[in-house]
Amino acid sequence: MKTNADIIPIASALKATPPPDRAAAASADALVDRRNRRVRDLRISVTDRCNFRCVYCMPKAVFGHDHAFLRRGDLLSFEEIVRIARIFVDQGVEKIRITGGEPLLRKHIENLIEQLAKLPVELTLTTNGSLLKKKARTLKDAGLARVTVSLDGIDDAVFRRMNDVDYPVGDVLDGIAAAAAVGLAPIKVNCVVKCGSNDDQILPLARHFRHSGHILRFIEFMDVGSSNGWCMDEVLPSAEVIARIDAEFPLAAIDANYPGEVAARWRYRDGAGEIGVISSVTQAFCASCTRIRLSTEGQIYTCLFAQDGHDLRQAMRQGAGDERLRRIIASVWQGRDDRYSEIRTAATDLPGSAGKIEMSYIGG
Ligand code: GTP
Ligand code: 5AD
Ligand code: SF4
Ligand code: SF4
Repeated sequence: MKTNADIIPIASALKATPPPDRAAAASADALVDRRNRRVRDLRISVTDRCNFRCVYCMPKAVFGHDHAFLRRGDLLSFEEIVRIARIFVDQGVEKIRITGGEPLLRKHIENLIEQLAKLPVELTLTTNGSLLKKKARTLKDAGLARVTVSLDGIDDAVFRRMNDVDYPVGDVLDGIAAAAAVGLAPIKVNCVVKCGSNDDQILPLARHFRHSGHILRFIEFMDVGSSNGWCMDEVLPSAEVIARIDAEFPLAAIDANYPGEVAARWRYRDGAGEIGVISSVTQAFCASCTRIRLSTEGQIYTCLFAQDGHDLRQAMRQGAGDERLRRIIASVWQGRDDRYSEIRTAATDLPGSAGKIEMSYIGG
């Protein structure tokens, strides 16, 4: 039987965004932005293409058959990506995530992974899972540490509706199993919750992944880009997600793994594993945001909601040396003041918000 005493700690723990690592930020030569945040995580988008058309990310009405994706020559080459990544690592990056679009669609992605794996970073990848069954072994052998798989429902009909290309859920579950079998673990499973579309999947997903060892996470639907028709009514606050699961499987909050972790962690009190919630709308985590994004065509963006990037590709292709690139990166990060999620309005009607970059381009 639930009491208020059980519920209150849940609500307050959701607010418990860890403070930024100020002691580290103050160290002599650390690269810090205007809000004293260090650069620690680099997210690299390797393609703007995807074989899914998730309703919240690449809606068919905008990403139709005639959509103009980037041309091959516009993409950063693997050599260019590795060069930039190395400079970021010298500047303090400790974690690299490969994203897209769907990163496993990029030809010979394992070659890029092999090169990035030589850097002293944790190397991870976010995928829709459709090609995982085929590629899990190669990815592991190339040096990838672990994968995060997007999965917006466990019911086949709901899943097909969410990806909007009629892709069956069974294939993605096979991909997750293949990743687990080769040790691309711990596997995180990300579900974007769109109220009225797939929030009926919260409990079935929780039931499915209990005892699996995989970490299921629910993400609040965000107003990224300008094409997903976002409105606040379709955001299910994470507090509600936790309340629904807690009612069937009692939960307890657990500490973050590291300062600035985007997911708030919870464990099942009966020992069946852990889940997470990412509350970028109701509990913004900008204060501890250490992420920078490298787009498919070589722009760096200091915020997921940025409207403008800084062009490293042009600098490189015009012959800039590493020191010049290092200085560009340093000055971009030092000038950074972003905190979009903290200041968004319910209608996302911030001046000029129509020009936000799409997530499939900038990298989730
Ligand atoms: P690990 O802890 O390394 O597994 O990764 P993570 O917790 O950073 O999670 P992941 O990279 O899978 O991000 C999960 C989701 O959180 C993304 O797909 C976005 O929806 C959201 N997210 C991640 N980073 C940001 C960010 O900087 N800003 C906002 N607003 N949302 C973010
Ligand atoms: N809101 C929240 N997360 C999103 N993603 C893409 N679009 C959105 C959005 N509008 C994230 C999801 C997905 C990953 C590839 O990008 O986490 O799993
Ligand atoms: Fe593709 Fe991922 Fe966007 Fe879905 S969320 S359309 S799988 S990039
Ligand atoms: Fe970082 Fe921008 Fe996301 Fe805030 S909104 S957490 S600053 S990427």
